[in-house]
Parts: sequence; C-alpha cells; structure tokens
Amino acid sequence: MSGNSASSGLRGFSGGYRYSLLTIVWTVVGFFLVAHLISLYSRKDNIHQQVSSDQLQVVHHDHPVVHELVRVEEESLRLPPPRKRSPRTSKRRSRKPIPLVEEFLDEKSPIRHLFFPSVKTAAFGPTKDMGNETSYYFPGKIWMDTEGNPIQAHGGGILHDEKSNTYYWYGEYKDGPTYRAHRKGPARVDIIGVGCYSSKDLWTWKNEGIVLGAEETNKTHDLHKSNVLERPKVIYNEKTEKYVMWMHIDDANYTKASVGVAISDSPTGPFEYLYSKRPHGFDSRDMTVFKDDDGVAYLIYSSEVNSVLHIGPLTEDYLDVTPVMKRVMVGQHREAPAIFKHQNTYYMVTSWCTGWAPNEALAHAAASIMGPWEKLGNPCIGGNKFFRLTTFLAQSTYVIPLPGVPGAFIFMADRWNPADLRDSRYVWLPLIIGGPADQPLEFSFSFPTWSRVSIYWHSKWRLP
Ligand SMILES: *[C@@H]1O[C@H](CO)[C@@H](O)[C@H](O)[C@H]1NC(C)=O
Ligand SMILES: *[C@@H]1O[C@H](CO)[C@@H](O)[C@H](O)[C@H]1NC(C)=O
Ligand SMILES: *[C@@H]1O[C@H](CO)[C@@H](O)[C@H](O)[C@H]1NC(C)=O
Repeated sequence: MSGNSASSGLRGFSGGYRYSLLTIVWTVVGFFLVAHLISLYSRKDNIHQQVSSDQLQVVHHDHPVVHELVRVEEESLRLPPPRKRSPRTSKRRSRKPIPLVEEFLDEKSPIRHLFFPSVKTAAFGPTKDMGNETSYYFPGKIWMDTEGNPIQAHGGGILHDEKSNTYYWYGEYKDGPTYRAHRKGPARVDIIGVGCYSSKDLWTWKNEGIVLGAEETNKTHDLHKSNVLERPKVIYNEKTEKYVMWMHIDDANYTKASVGVAISDSPTGPFEYLYSKRPHGFDSRDMTVFKDDDGVAYLIYSSEVNSVLHIGPLTEDYLDVTPVMKRVMVGQHREAPAIFKHQNTYYMVTSWCTGWAPNEALAHAAASIMGPWEKLGNPCIGGNKFFRLTTFLAQSTYVIPLPGVPGAFIFMADRWNPADLRDSRYVWLPLIIGGPADQPLEFSFSFPTWSRVSIYWHSKWRLP
C-alpha cells in the first residue's frame, strides 16, 4: 500500500520531466527492489523453518489432563425470539454489531442470565462448598476470594514471584464505598485503585488489598478518583529489586491517553506512583508490559487513535521507555494486547476496538518481539459460533504460562459488564500452542509453519 502511494506521488512530481528517462530509472530501481524483497522473503522462510522444527518438540499432548483441555466442548445458547435477530448476523465485516451482542449489552435482556449468571446460582471459589469441583474454573461465573467476596481485579495481569513461589493477580479494583457506575453516557467509574490478590495454585485467591489507591481530594492528580486507571501490570526488576507497575492513565474522556508508572519494594505494595507520560510522544490507551527471558522488558500499547500497536523496550530499571519503538499491526485497530512466548517465538492475542462490546480475538506470532507480527487467525475453539466471534463474550488481558506443561497457558479475559463494571466476569480458559496455523502469512508468500494458538471453551475445567 505504502509503495503504491509513494509511486503515485512520484508520478505527480515527475509531470514536468522527461517521462521516458524516468521510466528507465524506475524500471531499474524496481528490479533491484524486487530482487531485494525476494532475498528478504527467502531469509524469512528460513527463520520460519527453524521455528517450526523447534515447535515439533512440543509434547503437550502427552499430558493426560491436557487431553481433557483440548477436548472441543460445544455449548448451545437458548436464543431470544428470531424477530430480535437480523439476517445479517453473519456479516462481521459490516460495522453493525451482532444483535446478540446488543442483547449482551442490554441490562434488561431476558437472556442476561446466560451472560451474567447471578451470584445465587453461579459463584465459585474456596469459600463455596464445591464438592468434587474444588479447583475448577467456571468462566463467566462469579469468582470468590478466600473471604467470600467477588474478586475485583479487572483488566488484570499476573506476576509470578519466584522468591516466594507465589502468584500475584493485579487488576482494576472496582468496588467499595466510593464506587459509582455511570448509567448514562460512557460507562465509567471512579477509580478505586489497583487490587492485588495472592495465590499458590492460581485458584485460591487471597485479597491483599488495594496496592495503589485513588487520590480523593487532589483534582489535578492522575489518580484522582474521577480519572481512569486501566490494565495495571506488574513486573519485577532483578537489578533494582523493585516491583514496577505500568498502567493506562486517562481522564474521563480518554483524551490524556498516557501510561503511568508506580514502584514498590514488595509485591503487595504499597506502590508509590511516579508519573505519567505519552510514551515516545504518542497517545497510548490499552497496553501491557512483557518481560523477556533475558530480562529486557517491553511496553506494548494501542496508539495513533488505536489504529496501530507500538512496541519498544523499557529502560534497565523498567521505569521509562527508551527511544526505540516499532509500529506493528499498522492500520489493524487492535487493542487489549496479551503477549506470551514459546520456544523462541512470540505470540500475542488482541481484540478489535468496539468499546465495551465483545468482538473477535486474533492471535499473532513473531520471530522477534519488535516484529513483523503475523496474523494467525481467531484462536477460539468450541462453545458456539457466537462465542467464537466474541472471544467467549470477553476481551483478552493476559496469558499465563502453565507451570510444567510446555505449550500450555491460561488465557485471561474480561467479560465486561458496562452497566455495572464491578460485576464484570473473568473468563479463564486453556490456551494451547500446537498444530498448523490456519492463515497464510501476510509478509511472505508461503504458508506459515509456526503453530496455531488455540483457546478452548470449557464451561468448567481445571489445571493439570
Ligand atoms: C461430581 O459429583 C457429581 C454428583 O455429586 C457427579 O455427577 C460428577 O460426575 C462428579 N464429577 C467428578 C469430576 O467426579
Ligand atoms: C496535586 O497533584 C499534583 C500532580 O501530582 C502535584 O503536583 C501537587 O503538588 C498536588 N497538590 C497537593 C496539594 O498535594
Ligand atoms: C470531557 O468532555 C465533557 C463534555 O464534552 C466536558 O464537559 C469535560 O470538561 C471533559 N473533561 C475532560 C477531563 O476533558
């Protein structure tokens, strides 16, 4: 595309010059360009071959419980009367939302219990008498902490603290006395702060309290309760021995579009808020951070009005970005990035930008975290077509490597409830890397040889 526009611009420019001479020059230039591209592509193919032979070593299917995780589980939805659904349901390309999505967004929908089962019938957790279903995840049901309260950690992420072999779940804490949901206009709430929960088994979660709280009085402060704090993620810096939190900081109108940074000596805080900024001078909304095996951490954020993802390494202390930045998935309008790595290949799950309405997830892969990132297609398997086109009515937020099972991960997503964000649900599902990818490469002429990313629907499941 950019090549076309460049050459048409040059054609305009060349109007006053001798056309034939230019034609010869451009033919020669074009020849060298094509030759260069061919050499680039063949080099890239080699990289792919290497990646694929690595991945053949994945042995995840041998694990008996992983067998269970990759079982395709269909689930039928008791749908509303047909008059409510238009025949254009399947036209995903049109900007019209699927009517079932409208149903999902409608607080008064007669089938709301299908999307948001009530606390009476659908709560799970360590304080519940789960019988033989202890340690099972129930995506979309209400997840209780060790005190019997619904977990409040939305848009969250997980830190595995190696020193204590403990998992910490950080997320938007949307409950408490000053919580207020705006029922008209943009569904927004006052910030309460960042909640933190700890667990040894990724199922039993103890509330560690609010580790970064809102500012009650100072109206010019980023964390004033009228502002927006989203998608907090914490990484540990071995060199400085600090826990560093990155988050999306915004005003109620989403015009500030910045990242914020906070720091703590302990995973359970309190975190000291340092500052906010527009990374690399660009607007930044949905974001995440990823710490690579070599200790280098990266910030990934939706930028240029959510049209492109920007990715760049952090400074050694993780407290700032460096000047290095790459634009990836240009013009694809992806948000809610969740990055993970398997055998030297980087993977990412993203969503499309449709506000609180759920949409179709995409998986991506890259040999280098800085790109180019290839589209792998929709990773969702099972459930039903509506589920698969809406990421099981949820939006990606993080992917956790499953301890002891290479190629297996937990996909963490939020089923947002715009009418009452406190009551947004968690959708945790097994994510498996394996099998052939199902879309041709964008940046090469060959079919991809790296593996498919698959997220399997289960109405209930447990870890191996
Ligand atoms: C759990 O118990 C119920 C009945 O109490 C039974 O139907 C079900 O098969 C059991 N599930 C497992 C995994 O043992
Ligand atoms: C309010 O917050 C701003 C921005 O963080 C800060 O510069 C200012 O000193 C604060 N004011 C008070 C009274 O704490
Ligand atoms: C947000 O927009 C509203 C209405 O357009 C305006 O009244 C308000 O001042 C804006 N707030 C901020 C923080 O920009």
